[in-house]
Amino acid sequence: MSGENTPCHHGGETSEDGSGQYPNETIRLLLERASLRDYSDRPITPEVQQWILTAGLRSATGGNLQPYSILAVQEAGPRETLAELCGQPFMARAPLHLLFLIDWHRMERWARLEQAPFTATSSFRHFWIAFQDVMIAAQNICTAADALGLGSVYIGTVIEFIPTLREMFALPNAVFPVVLLCLGYPKSLPKPRAKLPAEVMVHHERYRDPSDDELVAAFRKKYENIRVEATEERLQTYERVCRGAQGEDFARAALARVREQGHFNAVQRYFGLHYRADEMPRDNDRYLQTVEEFGFGWFRKWESPEDPKQE
Ligand SMILES: Cc1cc2nc3c(=O)[nH]c(=O)nc-3n(C[C@H](O)[C@H](O)[C@H](O)COP(=O)(O)O)c2cc1C
Repeated sequence: MSGENTPCHHGGETSEDGSGQYPNETIRLLLERASLRDYSDRPITPEVQQWILTAGLRSATGGNLQPYSILAVQEAGPRETLAELCGQPFMARAPLHLLFLIDWHRMERWARLEQAPFTATSSFRHFWIAFQDVMIAAQNICTAADALGLGSVYIGTVIEFIPTLREMFALPNAVFPVVLLCLGYPKSLPKPRAKLPAEVMVHHERYRDPSDDELVAAFRKKYENIRVEATEERLQTYERVCRGAQGEDFARAALARVREQGHFNAVQRYFGLHYRADEMPRDNDRYLQTVEEFGFGWFRKWESPEDPKQE
């Protein structure tokens, strides 16, 4: 840790004490972190790329198993295809895409070659921990990239196209896409987004539920700029979503509330118009089927060869 204070690049409003100073560069990077979607043409040299990737591979993993892979995409064609698939054109301008994958294929092969027992693809616990492992590596890569003057943004939309990714990148069984990260140098610096305060997010010794007023105030402060116009079309969609999610009576009351407000606030927009509450849980079966097609069976009852056979 350096003894020198590091200036805040965003005018001090994000530094903990408002002084515009941070105790060191690492804390500055973490507190001023923001997703980057505006990339310059500057290429990423192989050396810089190697530092970033090596930093990711140093991450903690459950049991040090490292059950993940990172697929680097630099060719323009596939980057454009990914941007098109995800409906997010800015992605194509990021010179490096990293696809993060849960990967039990490598370990399965190793176990087979060494005649070790292997059931990891049938275990929820292994899937769950591998998911955590891969995200930890991804976030370390983000921080390493920030430290080298680059920026990044996660793209979660890739989970809509898992079978396509499998074909595009020749993913074997037991290799499952989790998230994509776009990386590049910034054309303009993104401003850190508002976050909920520690009083609401951090609990000391036991879980503390804030009062309704405190909770609503915290969300209002975070989303103070979000007001979506209540057009007739949106109101109709909102009513349909509310009905599909929680029934007729709820829909009537929810709609009256928005009409009274005259606009949609952030939570009404999130679950009523964007991540639609009537649709999100509907796809569960499709996702489970995809997971199964990728060679995982942790949601099925596992049968040991030692278990008594069912008649
Ligand atoms: C798992 C995950 C998926 C995300 N998917 C997308 C995405 O598909 N497109 C996008 O523009 N941003 C995406 N983001 C970035 C978020 O929109 C962003 O983190 C959030 O708005 C907060 O802004 P900040 O990262 O600048 O603090 C994703 C972030 C995460 C962690």
